[in-house]
Amino acid sequence: MRSEPIRVTRATALKPKPKDSELGFGQIFTDHMFVADFQEEKGWYDPRVEPYGPLSLDPAAAVLHYGQSIFDGLKAFRGVDGKVRLFRPQKHVERMVNSAKRLCIPPIDPALALDSIVTLVGIERDWVPKTVGTSLYIRPTVIANEAFLGVRPAKNYIYFVILSPVGAYYPEGMAPVKILVVDKFVRAVEGGVGGAKTAANYAASLYASEEAKHAGYTQVLWLDGVNRKYIDEVGTMNIMVKIGDEIITPPLAGTILPGVTRDSALALMRTWGLRVSERQVSIDEVQEAHRRGALEEVWGTGTAAVISPVGELAYKGEHMVINRGKIGPLTQRLYDAIVGIQYGGTPDPDGWTVEVR
Ligand SMILES: Cc1ncc(COP(=O)(O)O)c(C=O)c1O
Repeated sequence: MRSEPIRVTRATALKPKPKDSELGFGQIFTDHMFVADFQEEKGWYDPRVEPYGPLSLDPAAAVLHYGQSIFDGLKAFRGVDGKVRLFRPQKHVERMVNSAKRLCIPPIDPALALDSIVTLVGIERDWVPKTVGTSLYIRPTVIANEAFLGVRPAKNYIYFVILSPVGAYYPEGMAPVKILVVDKFVRAVEGGVGGAKTAANYAASLYASEEAKHAGYTQVLWLDGVNRKYIDEVGTMNIMVKIGDEIITPPLAGTILPGVTRDSALALMRTWGLRVSERQVSIDEVQEAHRRGALEEVWGTGTAAVISPVGELAYKGEHMVINRGKIGPLTQRLYDAIVGIQYGGTPDPDGWTVEVR
């Protein structure tokens, strides 16, 4: 257990807060950030909240050369009752610990990681926007800052948490998106780092998603790296397909990120008595289901959008329009259920939210 208390240094001047209607994603940052350091001899030490500002890094810092870094992303919501709630922060902390292990980064004590988030959001609670759909995005990150150009795990790290008020993902209501299935590029392979939230995965994804955007699609659907056949993820979201009465999502086999929204959607659908399978599903099976009219709904799950309906999948020149390009009933039900819990509008029977006072 951690013993060192969190030191707090307040900013002397506070920034003006934007109007909820002006919020985008990840452009504005709050007045404070959380920081802790790691040295081999000391472990994680000096946990502190300090004014938001630049980090000082040696140009030889390992993260800048070999990308030894991990992060996570979660949100705080201001409920319809005015209370500020985090959505499943323990699950995000657990994933951050697993990402750290995969990147040979000394994991933060989960109690400290949770405390860092709760303490920082508590100090910045006035930054949590009020309009339903808006939220305070939380970005905990660990980077290797040892000044050393050898390829091995670094000996020094910085953990920091920054906060950004973000606008509604769907200011004009949830809208189905067009997705391009790519088989020319892959995001991850079994045995690689696809299951960790690490910078390299996002750098590796840019080329294909830029190509897809230029071709008029919102994002790409990644296929597995070996056979280029089984569906993996959609952009930076997990994917679910409904074929007849079966809802299928790829298993957590190391190539996809274990999404917290994925886990929440699966849990809800199981309590609703639906037939849910975590199994490999090939793009051929999806195409075949579409041809016989059984591909009822497709959606992505992720913290940013919660649920993102897929209206069209393009693969090898074939355009699979799903549910006539409209939001399906299960897609909408999942969105409403999760958003209801996040904003405190509906009961939270499994204790997914943590109130920040
Ligand atoms: C690659 C990738 N897959 C899936 C997800 C969805 O995960 P979560 O539901 O925890 O946000 C994310 C977003 O964090 C992601 O970056």
